Amino acid sequence: MNVIHTIEELRAIILENKQKGKRIGLVPTMGFLHEGHLTLATQARAENDVVMMSIFVNPTQFGPNEDFASYPRDLQRDTKLAASVGVDVIFAPSVEEMYPHDGGIYIRAGQQATVLCGASRPSHFDGVLQVVAKLFNLFQPDFAYFGQKDAQQVAIIQTMVRDYNFPVELRIIPVIREEDGLAKSSRNVYLSATERAQAPAIQQALQLAKQELMASGNVEQSIQLAKRIVEANLEGKTDYLTFLSYPDLTEVTAETQQVLLAAAVYIGKTRLIDNVIFSLKGEPAYV
Ligand code: PAJ
Repeated sequence: MNVIHTIEELRAIILENKQKGKRIGLVPTMGFLHEGHLTLATQARAENDVVMMSIFVNPTQFGPNEDFASYPRDLQRDTKLAASVGVDVIFAPSVEEMYPHDGGIYIRAGQQATVLCGASRPSHFDGVLQVVAKLFNLFQPDFAYFGQKDAQQVAIIQTMVRDYNFPVELRIIPVIREEDGLAKSSRNVYLSATERAQAPAIQQALQLAKQELMASGNVEQSIQLAKRIVEANLEGKTDYLTFLSYPDLTEVTAETQQVLLAAAVYIGKTRLIDNVIFSLKGEPAYV
């Protein structure tokens, strides 16, 4: 396993592998790895000759009052975990290495970024697209691995890849959860013991809202039910809890094929997100 920090080293490794005709799989992360990230890497291992992981807490996707400075970081621990699932190369650049210039040229996320996390985190998805576009250009991966945990992120990156013809195939992995249903997240370490015990209520609320929608077809009633469960079970506030058509992220209508039921909830100061994607016609959902 090779841990590198500079673009120069990365370019040399990519060139060598491309010349040998190797298939490159990329797993972009912000580190503090958990089983969600490791599942992406495990799938990458099965489908590629070389598995590369980026570990970079990207400042441009954090708002001024968000947790960029306190976001958990532990490269040593991450290196061991990544090695255990067969990652070949970790690219862990500094902020200066990734952003030495600011030429004022940006990719702007479109309509899909005006709702859900995009509504409460303005410019978050522009920052995500900025770093992901750079990573795609740097790694030139055949496959890039993302988690459905961040369903809106997936939808927006899919649109960028389509609209800007990035020669990469996106591979999407389902949400990996703790035994009690809480979606795994690097931010779960922020939770106190009491908050941690309350957190699975988010997933329970989403499951009940899904069942309610399938049974009654009543969007508003299903949302209210889920909000009541969240409010009754945890000390916090709901940022959003809503149904949208997926992946376009517009209102659910009679024509909607796939529904995204997504929530962002503050438990104390920690903002957690979770979602369920399903077909209203009872068919298996795809991302
Ligand atoms: P990060 O939050 O570290 O997540 C890296 C990848 O792991 C993302 O694709 C995310 O969806 C996936 N992931 C996280 N938790 C998961 C879970 N419980 N189940 C399945 N997949 C999970 O997402 C980012 O970093 C950044 O925005 C990034 C894409 C790296 C750009 O900076």
